[in-house]
Amino acid sequence: MFKSTNLDQFPFPFTEGSYRYSNDLKKLTDINCIEITPEYKDQIKRKREMLDTEPDVRFQSFPHTMEMQWEILEMLVDMAVDKYPNDFSVQKDGDNWVFENHILNEKETFVFGDESSIPHEPLDFIGRHFHNDFICMVHRDDNFFLECGQVAYAALFSAHWNVGMSYDEIHAPVPFVSRTGVDLIARIRKFLLSINPGEPWTRINWNLMADRWDVNYETMDIWGPERYKVTPENAGELVHLRVEEQKFYRMPRSNTILFVLNTQFLPLEDLQKRQEWFDLTYSVLQDIPEAMAEYKGIAPFLPQSVEYLKNIAEGAKQ
Ligand code: HEM
Repeated sequence: MFKSTNLDQFPFPFTEGSYRYSNDLKKLTDINCIEITPEYKDQIKRKREMLDTEPDVRFQSFPHTMEMQWEILEMLVDMAVDKYPNDFSVQKDGDNWVFENHILNEKETFVFGDESSIPHEPLDFIGRHFHNDFICMVHRDDNFFLECGQVAYAALFSAHWNVGMSYDEIHAPVPFVSRTGVDLIARIRKFLLSINPGEPWTRINWNLMADRWDVNYETMDIWGPERYKVTPENAGELVHLRVEEQKFYRMPRSNTILFVLNTQFLPLEDLQKRQEWFDLTYSVLQDIPEAMAEYKGIAPFLPQSVEYLKNIAEGAKQ
């Protein structure tokens, strides 16, 4: 299992030591979503393996999404070349494009807008060059519907499971507890409706993973029992803080919301490299309500993880 080695690139999620939903949405200052990490090659290798071995679980689309997939392909290619000119290049001769990934030494020659010139659908094709998950939420009837997605790092999510669902249906299992009685699902949907082209937003979501990169409903029979192998002795190595940096783009031509996920992992043992991160994580994990731990799927190994952190914290005091 790979982990983030450049801590400056790790989107650490906590700013305070108590548990609460992180609904905080911010306007993106750097609107470019391409991020090359030191783990890039490992991430892409694993992502492609997952796409190849479980293509229907990892990628789904409706036939009418083809035009929006090309629109997204164009945006991602332009962003990659703009941010990492040494790693990516593109030549556009009308619709005849040559996209080069110099990190992997790969050259893609295709006709823009012509699916027969590429080996996979446009989003599935270009998504294989970036470690992110990509989901298209199509705007219809004042709601958003998942009509296309490439998802390899899923947490309780898969393109196969969620395809066709509305934003409201996807969030139905989330225990959106609100002390003020505000309907958070409706409030967030209203926010999504207000996103303008060229002004993307971001938020951070987090979870814990027990020696695992993705958890989705299709493979719960495998990862479900594996969660019980965590002990206070091995939690530092096995349990990872899994952080999703989420970005929301309104696509100007198709009006779809493109949801981009940058998922990074940090084993609990590496928290000690930043004392503030260790303290905040220890404090938040002690504060998680039981229902929330159940919902997040971490109830079977949360106490052992807290015990691991406690032992270190107490050891440091002696
Ligand atoms: C439009 C794109 C979005 C998609 C596709 C999406 C997808 C998801 C999925 C698949 C889950 C897990 C659901 C489950 O338990 O089965 C989830 C959880 C959640 N979502 Fe979203 N989401 C989107 C936007 C948002 C936005 C804009 C917010 C907040 C401002 C948000 C807040 C949350 C929260 C708080 C959870 C619970 C996560 C946890 O605490 O572990 N989502 N979302």
